[in-house]
Amino acid sequence: MKEHRASLTSFIVAFLVVLFGGNDQGRSKLPPGLVKLQIELLYACGLLWGPESWSVLICNPLTAYLAGLILGFVVPGMMEGLAYRKTFIERQVLLAFNDVPDCRQVLIVAAGYDTLALRMLPRDFGRSKTTKKHTATTQKGVIFLEVDHPATARVKKRGLDALGYEYHSTENAAPPPPSPRQNQPYPNRLETLAVDLTTTRLCDALLEYTQQPHSDFDPTQPTIVILEGLLFYLTEAQVIALLQAITKCVGPQSRIVCDYFAPKEEEEEDQRVQSPAVIPRMGRFTRGVLRLLHVIGEPMLWAIRPSELSHFVQQHASEWTVKEMGGPVGLEHMAVLEKKAA
Ligand SMILES: C[S@@+](CC[C@H](N)C(=O)[O-])C[C@H]1O[C@@H](n2cnc3c(N)ncnc32)[C@H](O)[C@@H]1O
Repeated sequence: MKEHRASLTSFIVAFLVVLFGGNDQGRSKLPPGLVKLQIELLYACGLLWGPESWSVLICNPLTAYLAGLILGFVVPGMMEGLAYRKTFIERQVLLAFNDVPDCRQVLIVAAGYDTLALRMLPRDFGRSKTTKKHTATTQKGVIFLEVDHPATARVKKRGLDALGYEYHSTENAAPPPPSPRQNQPYPNRLETLAVDLTTTRLCDALLEYTQQPHSDFDPTQPTIVILEGLLFYLTEAQVIALLQAITKCVGPQSRIVCDYFAPKEEEEEDQRVQSPAVIPRMGRFTRGVLRLLHVIGEPMLWAIRPSELSHFVQQHASEWTVKEMGGPVGLEHMAVLEKKAA
């Protein structure tokens, strides 16, 4: 990513969500409430102009149809893949809250303009435990910690502030005043941490952050880690380093939910593509799309065959196992990794 510029691909992802949600069919494939909140956030960040009512110009059945047609030709399955990954991730977070005892932390790495935390903040994740004698509800709130590059985090902060969210940010001088919701016994909380992961290791940044008095994130606790739209922008060495860093700052039984791209198969490879050793499959215009991403400073660098993922994890992050795989839908493959119990 270019050093002082907020991520363009993150904006593109958010903008595609808005386009895709312009008709009932697209909206029904996305998590409930996502399209509306995405529009609000993009306006609040200053990334869409004019009054918010103008959003009908980009979010309507005609633009959804045209975008589907054009993108479907250039990168077939991109829109469906995007909707699939958003839905898959939300479902996996809810599953983990239910399955993993004491799992009350979500770490969203390279969050961009994603709204997962914002959609989940108002929800009640109280878990009912029924014993022979009675039903008890655990109401401990969930901490959503968003980590992102300072340039993107700054733009998102503008949006969160404009929308009136109460949260703690490393960019804030002081912790936010308590909101009515925070006066509830076990509120969910949003925290944001701005860090350039090319210059600071995730585990160093997180462990330093957790020393701060206002931070409730506990690196020993089971955590759901979201790596969405991230791994294919890293080199293989950076993917391995990231997995190893995450291992150090989350507790046993944590889960990683991630998406990844499969490489182009040898026989369909275009020999003229001057690209990384492993070329992610991006449809019929792979070469052009990869070049464009290179020009905007966010080149794609990594891809892996689904059949090789388990071995890769075993080899480089042996504390984890592949729990579930999903897809492909469009270009998107999904995986859930689970950290072994201590
Ligand atoms: C394609 S976006 C994905 C955004 C979001 N996860 C989603 O899927 O909607 C890539 C994200 O990686 C972040 N990123 C890129 N380089 C980074 C770096 N060196 N340190 C931290 N974050 C970085 C960008 O700021 C951006 O938010």
